[in-house]
Amino acid sequence: MLTQSHHFRIEKATPTIGAYIHDIDLTADHPASLYQDLKKALSEHKVLFFRNQNMSDEKFLELGHNFGNLEIHEFFPCPEGKPEIQIISTNGGRTGTDRWHTDVTFRPNPSAASILRACDIPPDGGGDTMWLCTNSAFEALSPPIQELLLKVRGIHDMRLGMSGYLDPDVVEKNARENPPRTHPAIIRHPLTDKPHLFINSIWSGGFEGLTREEGEMLQRFLFEHVKRPEFQVRFRWDIDSIAIWDNIATQHYALGDYQYKRIMNRMIVDGVVPEAYAN
Ligand code: SIN
Repeated sequence: MLTQSHHFRIEKATPTIGAYIHDIDLTADHPASLYQDLKKALSEHKVLFFRNQNMSDEKFLELGHNFGNLEIHEFFPCPEGKPEIQIISTNGGRTGTDRWHTDVTFRPNPSAASILRACDIPPDGGGDTMWLCTNSAFEALSPPIQELLLKVRGIHDMRLGMSGYLDPDVVEKNARENPPRTHPAIIRHPLTDKPHLFINSIWSGGFEGLTREEGEMLQRFLFEHVKRPEFQVRFRWDIDSIAIWDNIATQHYALGDYQYKRIMNRMIVDGVVPEAYAN
């Protein structure tokens, strides 16, 4: 655990999740120990917020590489020659990312971390992003419900998340390459060993071994359960703000409460196949 670092200052955003990282210039060259400290802070606080980090795409990529291997995303566009950067450009309203989710859980090994920077944001506010802690969401469940969830695997299906948001041909092509798969409903975090709820409202589509009706009921309950404000943090973006989150330990939600072009750049860091939490 790391509550302070001699490289930067950490200010907790809430008791549960999120920390502002002060006195750091991510565009400068830093020793490996600084990135070790950032990774420790990420494990502890699950999402880290930075302001005033104006940097080129090259520096942004360098930052990403300090957190691991960067993955290419299935369907977001990228800047010319930089496939590891996803351009997430929206105009508000229903954007598709305005649902609580963990990134790419339709993959066998969902990303370990995501790094997002604000390139253009609504001038009058709006377009905040929220995160929630999936360990707190698990811990708040009663023991009998925890016990049930510890025994089942959730189905994750790319089609569920993309249908209605992307061209049907793009959905079909991607879905063929990413058939539905299952992950344990409660996973063991590979770094902290803690249990995390691993069901989300974009990609989850029921449970292996439960009937459709049982699965729908349980999922509906879990989608509501995670919305408790006590599990959450909300970040208001400025241009050149950056957020880095532990993708396995969190879900996030991008608010669509604006009418303006909002442009974000994202990188995702490779992860491992999630393991079931066995207590
Ligand atoms: C995402 O869902 O990864 C994007 C979040 C955002 O645009 O705030």
